[in-house]
Amino acid sequence: MNELGRLEDLPADYVAQLRELNLVPLWPSLRAVLPPGKPRPNTKPTCWSYEALRPLLMKAGELTPIERAERRVLVLANPGHGLENMKASAAIYLGMQLLLPGEWAPSHRHTPNAVRMIVEGEGAYTTVDGQKCPMSRGDLILTPTGLWHEHGHDGKDPVVWLDVLDLPLVYYMEASYHVNGQRQAVVPGQAERTYARGGLLPTPVFERTPKAYPMLRYPWVEAKAALQALAAEQPDLASVQITYVNPETGGHAENILGFYAQMLRPGQTLRLPVRSPATVFHQIEGGSTVTIEGQGFALAEADTCCAPGYSEIVLANRSATQSSFLFIADETPLHSKLGVYEVRA
Ligand SMILES: [Fe+2]
Repeated sequence: MNELGRLEDLPADYVAQLRELNLVPLWPSLRAVLPPGKPRPNTKPTCWSYEALRPLLMKAGELTPIERAERRVLVLANPGHGLENMKASAAIYLGMQLLLPGEWAPSHRHTPNAVRMIVEGEGAYTTVDGQKCPMSRGDLILTPTGLWHEHGHDGKDPVVWLDVLDLPLVYYMEASYHVNGQRQAVVPGQAERTYARGGLLPTPVFERTPKAYPMLRYPWVEAKAALQALAAEQPDLASVQITYVNPETGGHAENILGFYAQMLRPGQTLRLPVRSPATVFHQIEGGSTVTIEGQGFALAEADTCCAPGYSEIVLANRSATQSSFLFIADETPLHSKLGVYEVRA
């Protein structure tokens, strides 16, 4: 491949003339923006230990009252993007959020899509679009773009959840903003019960719901039972994985990021295909070793790690007797919609 001309090779007065007219020569930067063969991601394989971050999150609860923080979050920032940019990957933001008993996060909505994966504590709830969603370990709760949501906590112990947002992408698009609102009126009923049986949808008077996000809470007991049923039904199946979908469309639950749960059988090692999207792994139950481009991260319960796109990833259950359960978030819907989704042999 030809060595391309550098900026330093050009006469200084020529470069100055270009700058004066807001012009830039492409060739010195061409290889950086269009590298050969595969991208050069800024996203670095990174792991965040829950045991290490938890005391610092609890300390934040002492140092900063909720009124001064609004959202008491420690962001899981990827050093490859610069910590201050608060990105796990190009499109994914991760944050560990603490809500103390009696605290309340006022009703608001925003353009980025969010989900929360509950990490610890009982008694907290998120009200999304009028639906009160109780939070228990491993539950996935959606707060999609534009839907009103607020958090409250009637329990006795601190509650922690992992926020996963497409904030870096929406911010990059200069489309990120929020609006504060009135406390929501709670609508009775739980949509996850309406959609509790696979293949059966409510159709009052032959009509499907017009709601873009018909299901907002995916209880862990249901997801875990689905994984265990799949594993039992197909004993030879190598990848015991489910996707969190919109039950009305069968498509991904949200528009930009994809969400999944993976079960590793006792002692199982699973090599994932090399794919274009960046991927986040969060240990719900058990323990796994996630090896990203040869770099191994031992995940204990509530630990989180992230892998850049186009990485070789191997998942291994460290226990010979217990199953391992991982929550996975990735950029698949985004890559698919943009036509850049790729799987390499
Ligand atoms: Fe929010």
